[in-house]
Amino acid sequence: MSNTGSTPYGTLPTNSPSPTRRPVSLPRLQEMRDRGEKIAMLTAYDATFAAVADAAGIDCILVGDSLGMVCQGLHSTVGVSLETMRYHTESVTRGIRRGRGAAWVIGDLPFGSYHESSEQALRSAAVLMQAGAHMVKLEGGGWTTRTVQFLVERGIPVCAHIGLTPQTVHALGGYRVQGRDAQGTVLKQQAIELAEAGATMLVLEMVPAPLSAEITQALPTCHTIGIGAGVGTAGQVLVMHDMLGINLGKNAKFVRNFMTGSSGVGDAIQRYVAAVKSGEFPVDTEHAWMA
Ligand code: KIV
Repeated sequence: MSNTGSTPYGTLPTNSPSPTRRPVSLPRLQEMRDRGEKIAMLTAYDATFAAVADAAGIDCILVGDSLGMVCQGLHSTVGVSLETMRYHTESVTRGIRRGRGAAWVIGDLPFGSYHESSEQALRSAAVLMQAGAHMVKLEGGGWTTRTVQFLVERGIPVCAHIGLTPQTVHALGGYRVQGRDAQGTVLKQQAIELAEAGATMLVLEMVPAPLSAEITQALPTCHTIGIGAGVGTAGQVLVMHDMLGINLGKNAKFVRNFMTGSSGVGDAIQRYVAAVKSGEFPVDTEHAWMA
């Protein structure tokens, strides 16, 4: 970071993005996609980490409900409330605005906040959009398609999330790879339906690399963001604390610790952005389900 601002409580990043870094928007993401530039995304849950990631050149910040584990010490994301998501979304967007930042912010709709009806989803999405999010994310395929269309028609950009969906970890029987064999056809069909319903982003979590590459090819205007899904997606996301090596538990096999060999957090994030953009991260053959 080139510039910092002192407060009685410490130093906050205040540097604005470089003149070449325009605010990320949906048209901008499509331009990146069309020219084959990968989208680099990380989670953030507070103002300072969000500002550091923004200054390091991250394209998108996901205020993920993984904050249940990272910030609240929960065992899963199931216990995270909408009010908690609102609080953290507001903190992140404040941090980015303070640095006059560029990143696109995605607010995660928590478990139970969009399951009843499209109208309930709209009310929940409005809470996160009013907290500063540019887009909301929701988990699941099939039953969520109608909700995605309902939100998109009302001007709310939507990121869908299929494959391993942590909010349904109990139904899935654990954090396992999804979409192997015949299940892959179902996932691909769900992805197509979500894109047709208007989702402009799609997280693919822990699905075989060939399947996520195939889904990516099939969806030129819905940008696939992989996590444990190989290198063939339009972009990548990691939980910030995992890639900084400060996870309280055990890291998933697909995570790389970018703090190793870095001079600080900003440097580690810059290296992550560069590795995603160059296609150097992830390496498909590192893990059995990716090969
Ligand atoms: O909540 C989260 O951080 C997520 C990512 C792991 C994709 O959903």
